[in-house]
Amino acid sequence: MKKGIFISLEGIEGTGKSTQSRLLSEALTAAGYEALLTFEPGGTRIGQSIREILLKPDHKEMSFVAELLLYNAARSQHLHEVILPALERGAVVITDRYTDSTVAYQGYGRGIDIELLKSIDRISTKGFMPHLTILFDLDVQVGLERNRGVNKVDRFELEEVAFHEKVRSGYLEIARLEPQRIKIVDASKEPQDIHKQVKDIVMERLCR
Ligand code: TMP
Repeated sequence: MKKGIFISLEGIEGTGKSTQSRLLSEALTAAGYEALLTFEPGGTRIGQSIREILLKPDHKEMSFVAELLLYNAARSQHLHEVILPALERGAVVITDRYTDSTVAYQGYGRGIDIELLKSIDRISTKGFMPHLTILFDLDVQVGLERNRGVNKVDRFELEEVAFHEKVRSGYLEIARLEPQRIKIVDASKEPQDIHKQVKDIVMERLCR
């Protein structure tokens, strides 16, 4: 039985997820918790190398299945090297993306069969899921504009708007199917207002 709490933050491009994960981690530390902030793809040395392969803009020839397997490879390494040991210590682990990203992007976005995708997840994570997931929901155009504003360009930012629309509606469908685990936050609000809402959701879960 794991002692810590595992929280994932999810959403399309430009929702401010990374800023919010940092603010949440700082708030938990200030409240006396051991908070571990991490991210996917990445979070480990091997994961970081896989991230570079996945996001390099000129890797246009990458097949959807190669992409799927690389995300899963990075996740397996991340789970065993970082997430599980921290949970064993009793930490609150906050990850910027996890399995729901694969379901949303490779499943709903790329069109890979969700059941097939879940069977691969059973190999990489044995179905180990977060206790709580916060989904930052935002209009696709607004999110892509925000990222252009900070000059963020990777293979996914170069996708058509239609792809990101499928990812967004995929996320909303995932949240509809698991309302106990996944809480939706409106990411169009001011960062401090979003932070307050996120903190309230997390504190409620931690005090249970
Ligand atoms: P980031 O920009 O939030 O760091 O994420 C990198 C990109 O990788 C982002 O466009 C979403 C994408 N991604 C997937 O397509 N599948 C996954 O499983 C993960 C974790 C990320």
